[in-house]
Amino acid sequence: MAGMSSQEMIELCKRHTLYTWTAQGAVDPLPVERTDGVYMYTPDGKRILDFNSQLMSVNIGHNHPRVREAMKRQIDQLTYVYPGTATEVRARLGKKLAEITPDSINTFFFTLGGAEANENAVKIARLVTGRFKILSRYRSYHGGTHVAMQLTGDPRRWPTEPGAPGFVKVMDPEPYHYSFGKTEAERTENNLRYLEEVIMYEGPQNIAAMVIEPVTGTNGILPPPEGYLQGLRALLDRHGILLICDEVMAGFGRTGRMFSFEHGNIVPDIITMAKGLTSSYAPLGAVGVSDAIAEHFQDNTLWCGLTYNSHPVSLAAALAAIEVLQDEGLVERAAVMGEHMRAHMQRLQERHPSVKAFRQIGLFGMMDIRKNAAGDLIAPYNGTHPAMQELARFFRREGLFTFVRWSHFMCNPPLIITEQQLAEAFDIIDRGLEITDAAFEG
Ligand SMILES: Cc1ncc(COP(=O)(O)O)c(C=O)c1O
Repeated sequence: MAGMSSQEMIELCKRHTLYTWTAQGAVDPLPVERTDGVYMYTPDGKRILDFNSQLMSVNIGHNHPRVREAMKRQIDQLTYVYPGTATEVRARLGKKLAEITPDSINTFFFTLGGAEANENAVKIARLVTGRFKILSRYRSYHGGTHVAMQLTGDPRRWPTEPGAPGFVKVMDPEPYHYSFGKTEAERTENNLRYLEEVIMYEGPQNIAAMVIEPVTGTNGILPPPEGYLQGLRALLDRHGILLICDEVMAGFGRTGRMFSFEHGNIVPDIITMAKGLTSSYAPLGAVGVSDAIAEHFQDNTLWCGLTYNSHPVSLAAALAAIEVLQDEGLVERAAVMGEHMRAHMQRLQERHPSVKAFRQIGLFGMMDIRKNAAGDLIAPYNGTHPAMQELARFFRREGLFTFVRWSHFMCNPPLIITEQQLAEAFDIIDRGLEITDAAFEG
C-alpha cells in the first residue's frame, strides 16, 4: 500500500469510485495520507488543520490511541457475530448509553449511521403510535436514504421527489430570510402557534412524530430560541405526538453539552445518534427509545433489522470514544473553547464588512457572508458566488479544511483543539475574508 503519490491516489479514486453530492467531473479530492489530533497530512507532507472535524464527526480528534487499541482488541477477540447474539461489548455500550442519556431512555437499537438511525426511528414511531404522518422542519438534514431524504428540508431532497407520502415539512423558529417576531420569546410563541395550526390541519390523530435537530447543523448552526424546545415538547405531548431528537451532528459534546436537547431541559421520546458516537472511527448509528416505547416492544414485534446491527468492532469504537469524551472532559472543554471561538468570530465581524453574522454554541459554529450593507447574503439559497469559491480555494491553499457552502463557512473543530490552534485557524480566516470584503458592495 505504501508509496502512492498524491496524483496516483487522486487519479485512481476518481477513475474507479464515485464521490458524494457532486457531478464527478467537478471533484477535486484532497489527498490524505494520515491524520493526527486536529491535523491531516497529504502524501507530500502538507499539514492541514481540520476545522470541520471531517463531517462534524471526529469529535475526539484523529487517531486517538485509546480507540485504536480498543478496536484492535475487539478485532482480535471477536470481529463479527449476527445480531441475535449477546456480546460483552454490546452489553457494555448499551449500559454506557443508558448512563449518558436521560433517565427515561435506557434502550438502544444500533444501525450503521445517522440516516439509518432516522429511518428506524420513523418505523418505531409508526409502530408504537399506529399513526403515519411525520413532521419535520425545512432547515434540516436527516440523511441521504429515501425516508431520511423525505425528513430533510434542505435542497438535497429535491432530486428524490416525489418521495414517500406522509412527510409534512414545517417552518423553523428561525426562517431563512426573516423572523416571525422581534424577541426570542415572540419568535417562539409565533412559531408554536403556527405549528399547532399545522397539526390541526393534518389531524393530530394521524401524526406519529416530529423530528428535529435541537440545534440545527448544516442548515445554519441554529440554537433554538428561548422556550422553543420546552414549548414544542408540551405541544406535542398535548397531541400524543412523539418527539424524535436527531443528535447525529449536535450530539456527543459538540455544543458544550453531551446532547443538544439538554440546552432546552427537555427529554425526547427517541434520540438518534451517529457521527460523534464513535467519533467516526467506525460506522455506527443508534436509536435510543424511552422506557414506554421499549415496553411496547416487549410484546410487539420490532420490525427492524440489519446484518450489521450491533457490529462488535463499531461498538468497541463507540465505547472507547465515549470514555475518551468523559475522561478527558471534552464536553466541558467544548463549552470553554467555544467562548474563545466566539471571541475570534466577534473580532472578525468587527474587522470585516463582509461578515453579516456568526453563530456559535460550544465548538459548533458558522459565519455568514453578506454582499451589501443592507445585509443580503452574498449567494442565493442553494447557490454560490465567485468570492465564496475563491475563499474555499484560499482555505485549502493555506492549509485549513472546512466547508464553504452557499454564503456560509463552518467552524467545527475537534473538541481537543487548543487556544493556539484556534488562533492559527482564525488567522487564516482573517486573511481569507479580505476576498469577500473585496466583493462587498457597500
Ligand atoms: C443531523 C443529521 N442527521 C442525520 C445525518 C445522516 O447521517 P449519516 O450520513 O451517518 O447517514 C446527518 C449527516 O450529516 C446529520 O447531520
